Amino acid sequence: MPHSVLIIDDEETIRKSLGYLFAAKGFSVSAAATIAEGLKLAWAARPELVILDNRLPDGTGLQALEMIKAEQPDIMVIMLTGYANLPDAVQAMRKGAYDYLTKPVDIDALEIAAERALETQGLKKENLVLKMRHGGSHTGVIGNSREIHKILLIMGLLAENPDTTVMITGESGTGKELAARTIHSLSARKDRPFLDINCASLSEHLLESELFGHERGAYTDAKEMKKGLLEVADGGTVFLDEIAELSINLQPKLLRVIETKTFRRVGGTRDIKVDVRIMAATNKDLSNPENRKNFREDLYYRLCVMPVHMPPLRARENDVLDLARYFLSQSAAIKKNITEISEDCEGYLLAYSWPGNIRELRNVIERAVILSQGPAITPEHLPHELLEKKEHAVREERADYPSAPCSLDRLEKEHIKKTMDFSRGNQSLAARLLGISRSTLINKLKKYNLL
Ligand SMILES: Nc1ncnc2c1ncn2[C@@H]1O[C@H](COP(=O)(O)OP(=O)(O)OP(=O)(O)O)[C@@H](O)[C@H]1O
Ligand SMILES: [Mg+2]
Repeated sequence: MPHSVLIIDDEETIRKSLGYLFAAKGFSVSAAATIAEGLKLAWAARPELVILDNRLPDGTGLQALEMIKAEQPDIMVIMLTGYANLPDAVQAMRKGAYDYLTKPVDIDALEIAAERALETQGLKKENLVLKMRHGGSHTGVIGNSREIHKILLIMGLLAENPDTTVMITGESGTGKELAARTIHSLSARKDRPFLDINCASLSEHLLESELFGHERGAYTDAKEMKKGLLEVADGGTVFLDEIAELSINLQPKLLRVIETKTFRRVGGTRDIKVDVRIMAATNKDLSNPENRKNFREDLYYRLCVMPVHMPPLRARENDVLDLARYFLSQSAAIKKNITEISEDCEGYLLAYSWPGNIRELRNVIERAVILSQGPAITPEHLPHELLEKKEHAVREERADYPSAPCSLDRLEKEHIKKTMDFSRGNQSLAARLLGISRSTLINKLKKYNLL
């Protein structure tokens, strides 16, 4: 099925030129010059994408957007607007537009925006995503950003392929273990054990005996035979956390388990066959050969058949507030009648860079719940490191902003520059703070030569 687009614009040249553009890309195209006509087509043709002008003969694009979204929330809407109407565009984003572009329309920017809109829509439609949120016993993978949608899709694939080895990378606190447990609990192995072990917390010998077990008499104090995790987890999953710390002596043994599904207990001579899936995690960037000097290449590549990278929280466009509200709902807040996070508090949460990622966010919310007397969490309940950064930034902002009257373009450029500095070049965070999509931000960075 070709993709479908509806163009609602009263200027014939725009309808025609955009129509040609999308038709050339294989879209089925319909076009309307008024809201009334546009809505009729939207209901009849159910396009995936609507390109919507802001000024139409029978109303504003904002009104049309509301009507479209109320009836068919799945339709992705890209607004076109003049510079003078930028505040409208921001409103439109709040009301569910996917993106906005300024007129005259930059064709490249429109193509990028349209592609992204369809990609996002495709991901939203994916059942796997829904399954991931509601299906298993270890659900609770919260987040709606593009980044987390992609991860949920990969996790779905890995759940459907219960023999594939899984390698999960990402900074501390990004949800690696949660991802591993979720994949397990959605897979055919879900009724068998999920056993985890931290490769950094045990000595080589202890780790070996924990993993592989030992025969009676293998050590002086080995009075009984003991099964290792691999045997106990038979049919299930063994999760090796901090795999980068696995000693060089144990690496070939693990490789053998992955390749042949067999191993020997310590002190044993018999091969034991098991059916386990190996999952591993690390917060080191092992893709950099410098960081894996102590890691066998063959094992590295064997583990990384299907890598999952958990992005840091600061790179997940919209997830901070969703997660904060989720942790609030999971905490003692209900008992204390704390139901909301104040708006300025949200500002601090969004502006912070979260070096400890989701775990840090959870701790911050739990602490705030303890401190707050209700009904809301306010900035005074946040730790000072969150407040410091923002105050600093606000002060800087005031000092540098053009003080004399200037054009909107100039102001927009300065504001984008500041926001990019503040978010240390992180485009997703900057876009979130500016209340625009990342693709819009990129277009603006290009326009103002800030890339
Ligand atoms: N997407 C998410 N939705 C809800 N909770 C999450 C999400 N990601 C992580 N968490 C929670 O954040 C905390 C940290 O996650 P987890 O322990 O999985 O991180 P990790 O990457 O394994 O960290 P480390 O590298 O320090 O071991 C846990 O309480 C987990 O439940
Ligand atoms: Mg962990």
